[in-house]
Order: sequence, then C-alpha cells, then structure tokens
Amino acid sequence: MQLILLGPPGAGKGTQAKKLVDKLRLPQISTGDLLRAAVRDQTELGMKAKAKMDAGQLVPDDIVIAMVRERLQQDDCRPGFILDGFPRAVSQAEALDKMLEDMGRGLDHVLSIEVPEAELVKRLTGRRSCPDCGAMFHVEFNPPRQEGICDKCGGKLIIRDDDKEETIRQRIAVYREQTEPLKGYYESRGLLRRIAGSGTPRQVEALIDEVVGKA
Ligand code: AP5
Repeated sequence: MQLILLGPPGAGKGTQAKKLVDKLRLPQISTGDLLRAAVRDQTELGMKAKAKMDAGQLVPDDIVIAMVRERLQQDDCRPGFILDGFPRAVSQAEALDKMLEDMGRGLDHVLSIEVPEAELVKRLTGRRSCPDCGAMFHVEFNPPRQEGICDKCGGKLIIRDDDKEETIRQRIAVYREQTEPLKGYYESRGLLRRIAGSGTPRQVEALIDEVVGKA
C-alpha cells in the first residue's frame, strides 16, 4: 500500500504515521525527519536545508526529491510506504508521479488531515520531541511521565528550532500557498480522503482506519 499524509504543520501527520507503521508494517518516510537528521549530522545537504527550515520555508525541490527517490529504492519500501510531509508542492507531486511510474506503482490514498489554525499553533508550541528515538509528546495533550524526559528511551526532550510561534505562522502560510493546492491535484484523481483532525489522536486514528482498513 502506498499512502501520503497531507496536512498543515501540527495536523498530526507524524503522530498518525507512527500508528500506521505499527499497524501496516510499512516504513514512514518523513522528509522533515530526513532533513533534521542531515542537519544533525552536519552534512552538506543539511547545511543547505537548515536556513530554510529555520525560516519556515520549503527546502529546494532538487534536494528533497533526490532524497525521496533514493529512499524509495530501499528494500523496506517494496511492500509499500507512508509518505509524511512529501509531496509539499505540485512540482514535488509531479516528480513523485514520475518516480512511481518508473517503479510500476501507484498511490492508494492521500489522507488530508484537517485542523483549524488556532489548534495547530497550540499543538506546535506545546510539542516536545525525543531526538534519540523520535517519540513525540505535548505538554498538555500528551505529557511525558517525567517532565523533559522521554517515556520510551529516557532521552532528553527538545523543542524543535522551527516551533517558535512566528516560524509556526510562517510554516502555516507556506502550507496554504504551496501545499494546499495538492488537495485539488489529488481530488481530481479520486485519491483524496479528508480526515477531520481535531479530535483526540485515537479519534483521528479511527477515522483513518475506516479509510485504510484495520490491519
Ligand atoms: P516537517 O517535519 O514535515 O514539519 P511539518 O509539516 O511542519 O509538520 P510537523 O512535524 O510540525 O507536524 P505534524 O503534522 O507531523 O504533527 P505532529 O504529529 O508532530 O517539516 C519541517 C520542515 O522541513 C519544513 O518546514 C520544511 O522547511 C522542510 N521540509 C519537510 N518536508 C519538505 C518537503 N517535502 N519539501 C520542502 N521542504 C520540506 O503533532 C504535533 C503536536 O501535536 C505533537 O506535540 C503531538 O503530540 C500533538 N498532537 C498530534 N495529534 C494530536 C491530536 N489529535 N490532538 C492533540 N494533540 C495532538
């Protein structure tokens, strides 16, 4: 199964992707995570991406598309994959179409998780992430047992560099301008499934299960 998770920053793409990984046993391919790993490792690509990410702007297409192309060729993607945060512009969706065509694959569903802006800001300003194992928490909605410490691996939780309110608003504006048109792109192909994303993570998960089926 090939899935795309689409939605504004803070919609819960990462949260729901992790649940789908467990259920469908497919890899999550998060371009945000891949880029943050490159920044942490101080690779040339990471250096180029960092300024854009910190400013809440999209990283240039050539970098992101090459990264996804390479990732999709890895063995664990053979049974399918869950794309989280890619594509993010029509140019990227067209590049993905070409990659899938070359691989002889198609998309099954594009899940658009929809959440009002005020809720997004609340979710992102309260987010805490574990840089060691990738677990995610929220100071109010999903607090760790011990403040600042990851429940899963004991790592020290961090606030992402781009989770400052000003940068969050910029990321949302970029989403509206460059990513939201993808809804029309996929709707016209009969692939778009709108998911109401304002409920609890479990409620959203149940809505997604109705679309992808329980594995
Ligand atoms: P990326 O890492 O993809 O960030 P994003 O799209 O802004 O999405 P987030 O990870 O912030 O949110 P999410 O929807 O995954 O929500 P989450 O589950 O974490 O990208 C970062 C940057 O990288 C971009 O700005 C760009 O610069 C660059 N980039 C990435 N991909 C690119 C591409 N394709 N092209 C170009 N540039 C690219 O949840 C958020 C919080 O809410 C958490 O605390 C969580 O616990 C909580 N939460 C989740 N669900 C719920 C719920 N139902 N109720 C209450 N709280 C909830």
